[in-house]
Amino acid sequence: MMYPYQINTIEQYYQDYKHSIEEPELFWANIANHFLWHKKWDEVLEWNFTEPRVEWFKGARLNITENCIDRHLDSIGNQPAIIWEPNDPQDSSRIITYNQLYNQVCRVSQVLTNLGVKKGDRVCIYMGMVPELAFAVLACARIGAIHSVIFGGFSAQSIADRLADAQAEFIITCDGAYRGAKDIPLKSVIDDALTGNTTVKKVLVYTRTRIPVSMINGRDVWWEDEMEHAELNNAVHFQATSMDAEDPLFILYTSGSTGKPKGVVHTQAGYMLWANYTFINVFQYKPGQIHFCTADIGWITGHSYVLYGPLSAGATTVMFEGVPTWPDAGRFWDIVDKYNVNILYTAPTAIRSLMGFGLAPLQGKDLSSLNVLGSVGEPINIEAWQWFNKNIGKGNCPIVDTWWQTETGGIMISNLAGVTPHKPAYATLPLPGVLPVLVDEQGKELQGNSVNGNLCIKQSWPATIRTTYRDHERCRTNYFAAYPNKYFTGDGAMRDELGNYRITGRVDDVLNVSGHRIGTAEVENAINMHSGVVESAVVGYPHDIKGQGIYAYVILEDKGHEAELMRQNIIQTVVRIIGPIAKPDKIQFVSGLPKTRSGKIMRRILRKIAEGETSNLGDTTTLLDPGVVDEIKDGAKLV
Ligand code: PRX
Repeated sequence: MMYPYQINTIEQYYQDYKHSIEEPELFWANIANHFLWHKKWDEVLEWNFTEPRVEWFKGARLNITENCIDRHLDSIGNQPAIIWEPNDPQDSSRIITYNQLYNQVCRVSQVLTNLGVKKGDRVCIYMGMVPELAFAVLACARIGAIHSVIFGGFSAQSIADRLADAQAEFIITCDGAYRGAKDIPLKSVIDDALTGNTTVKKVLVYTRTRIPVSMINGRDVWWEDEMEHAELNNAVHFQATSMDAEDPLFILYTSGSTGKPKGVVHTQAGYMLWANYTFINVFQYKPGQIHFCTADIGWITGHSYVLYGPLSAGATTVMFEGVPTWPDAGRFWDIVDKYNVNILYTAPTAIRSLMGFGLAPLQGKDLSSLNVLGSVGEPINIEAWQWFNKNIGKGNCPIVDTWWQTETGGIMISNLAGVTPHKPAYATLPLPGVLPVLVDEQGKELQGNSVNGNLCIKQSWPATIRTTYRDHERCRTNYFAAYPNKYFTGDGAMRDELGNYRITGRVDDVLNVSGHRIGTAEVENAINMHSGVVESAVVGYPHDIKGQGIYAYVILEDKGHEAELMRQNIIQTVVRIIGPIAKPDKIQFVSGLPKTRSGKIMRRILRKIAEGETSNLGDTTTLLDPGVVDEIKDGAKLV
């Protein structure tokens, strides 16, 4: 498969960019013509960012899995679609060709149909990184069911909230998952999440770790049994459901600055085009290359760049079950060496943690197959960029620093590998179709270059967030209300003299811990669930490996408790309510929080103290009790 819309020169980038902004309908129709449709569109694009209402390829009908699988079978049916590397390097890897992927996805589609899954039903998927996870996701898409994948690091309570919000009727899970030295009892977590649930009818369980599980009669069924019983029409085919371009494809929950996570909704055609177009252009993928994105499919990066982007391009995608540091810190490099990986796409936090092991884990690893490196999830610091460039890319591989979000579906601002220039710590230039602007606090657009502001997007791109599930108003207020007619990203950015963007981080109360988005309000809510806690305030602070760490200021009901024990109890509570990913790194017990007379917590001061700043705390005269600041400053030294 060749890609007629792959940008090969910088001149072409500028030309395509201009075309995409001036005539988006023509630009995207030309690209869409290269996909498989049951019926073409009546209109390419209708949008307004006030309601917001966004519709791409209105009237068109398609199935994304035919674009990711069926259309490749004649030409590359015997080529690997997925290379799966197990957690334990001693175990066998699995290579799944496009033909085999087709058979598996058809069979799982039949299994789901037999269980009663229909178009539009919500299927929650809580599995480890096994190929069956990919089959499950694609089978949902083939039937037209809406998948909602939940990362294995979320607790039963978090899952329960998501199941209720999505009104999910089906769950696909595993008995357990291997992650490094740990065995995670996924099914048992699901059982806890289902206490009191009234919407879930069936739980399909794939066997991975053989940890004992309890199977509830009538509700829980084994994947292996169902697969055996799935009689396919014509032996292996399962007719893909014809979907409207704007039918939902998936829900993915993500944290915001307030309350509970939001169910970000992406739809069929626009998301497909965007995942495909960005994959082909940013990584400059060439047919036959091996692409390794290290993200878990529980996050948007895994959706777009382990699955939909690469598969829609007929690429070979590596899926890794384990973690970069087990059994040793050479694991990524072993995988690159073993499969001759050409493109390695990972997160700054992984790079920083591997840097900490020095160069020994690189010894004897042949990394010469690498052509392109990528970074995602948070700003990459110069030191990590240089280490990656020198030791992994050997100075020969362009590094793409890709800025985007769950809500944007795919990469928005990034250099194109080897085509447009890179600049360390800069995501650089917008992709065709993306019109970024910087605004000041009043919403005034900042013109010209060398400016700093809040990053917004002014025009709809194909994978614009369509809604937040069952709560469109929340989508509007969160993203489209702050600045009229603009999508607000929640990030701050600067634009240099050449128009390159550098993302400076979130400007709202959202933390980015190891590339995972966590709302401070969510962590506070979890801490406050502990019976001994009166109140808490959570802020981020710079952390060498995680990028940001979680710092919690906590007021206890009874100060007489043993501090260390309370600290452990509070951490346990957060793990129970959200999951291990939201564990506070530091907890400081305080007798009061700095509040204004109207009762608002002055987070600015708490952030500074958490960062180790003791002078220059700014104006504290508006505080109800300025004395509390000194006490907190003194206490911080002991944390
Ligand atoms: O703050 C930005 C940061 O991650 C946020 C999006 O998080 P999430 O929806 O979980 O998606 C992560 C993977 C796309 C953004 O608002 N972020 C992501 N990529 C970068 C980044 N910050 C700086 N540079 C990046 N390349």
